[in-house]
Amino acid sequence: MEQTITILGLESSCDDTAAAIVRSDGAILASVVAGQAELHAGFGGVVPEIAARAHAERLDICAGDALQQAGMTLAQVDAIAVTAGPGLIGGVMSGVMFAKGLALGAGKPLIGVNHLAGHALTPRLTDAAAFPYLMLLVSGGHCQFLAVESADTFHRLGGTIDDAPGEAFDKSARILGLGYPGGPLVEAEAARGNSARFAFPRPLLNRPDCDMSFSGLKTALRRAVDQLVADQGGISVQDRADLCASFQAAVSDVLAKKSARAMAEFAARFGSTTFSVAGGVAANQAIGAGLRSAASQAGFAFVAPPLTLCTDNAAMIAWAGIERFAKGEFDDMSLGARPRWPLDGRAAPMLGSGKKGAKA
Ligand code: KG4
Ligand code: ZN
Repeated sequence: MEQTITILGLESSCDDTAAAIVRSDGAILASVVAGQAELHAGFGGVVPEIAARAHAERLDICAGDALQQAGMTLAQVDAIAVTAGPGLIGGVMSGVMFAKGLALGAGKPLIGVNHLAGHALTPRLTDAAAFPYLMLLVSGGHCQFLAVESADTFHRLGGTIDDAPGEAFDKSARILGLGYPGGPLVEAEAARGNSARFAFPRPLLNRPDCDMSFSGLKTALRRAVDQLVADQGGISVQDRADLCASFQAAVSDVLAKKSARAMAEFAARFGSTTFSVAGGVAANQAIGAGLRSAASQAGFAFVAPPLTLCTDNAAMIAWAGIERFAKGEFDDMSLGARPRWPLDGRAAPMLGSGKKGAKA
């Protein structure tokens, strides 16, 4: 019988401090996420210095809470996995240094994990997805289609050439005077709005590839707001809901149509028909529904992890650590923090990627 592995995972690459304990049979024994939205809300985005300081203060609390929830001591875990990049450098360093201290103190192996690999491998934790599968990773800092061939072989089929959709949601929320993070707030507004009122752009749909562009969308939204202000002196509550609904429909449309392309390309090249999604924007119900229907039209199985495992969390980091542990891959005390760390090293760098600190 295969040995069961239990790993403590740590995540601190953006604005969530998280710790989790996961077993190699897929059991999540504990998953603690301490968000920082309240610290950054007044700035309309993540302030790296504030984030790094908060991570340094909270990592040991989160790790202690996770161990307590799992009813375990540090001595009982087999290894410590930590996000070593990509992300905001201060936060990643806080996590890596904390993990090194724990590993050294408890005499446990240390495993550095790529945050994007954490997202991309989540369908294996939640649904035991078999390789290869197609993944749309769509978050505040990233948007890419990946063929996931193994725990460390990723092939990028395409992605955004400018902003990530989550970034577009956050910037649009800011333009509309909603809070941060913008995604859930825009989604709530959109539920009361008319998505057909504003014809926002759906760029690159005529291009026969899997690339996308979202930066023009927030500019179009800003122009629509300016026009309403010029015409009527301001925007009404209904205007705001209609703007949000029209914006969300444009994002959803582009993601669904490009997913259809990516599925066709993936099936032809890799001969498999599983499509999965991860990252914070995958928490959006309308976008999720669009992707599900695109998958069913393409004859693909659709794997959508639960919302708490779509947004940043440490269970995905622990799982990615389990996959590396199983291959006998460990790090030593020279493990460094990598602010940029593309999953597919062979693919050409995307324009504008990592503008927001390469968060994912
Ligand atoms: O993966 P994630 O938790 O963090 C990183 O980006 O690393 O994703 C956060 C992003 C934010 O931009 C947030 O606005 C967006 O995901 N988001 C959403 C929703 N929930 C979170 N976007 C659209 N609709 C949502 N319901
Ligand atoms: Zn992320």
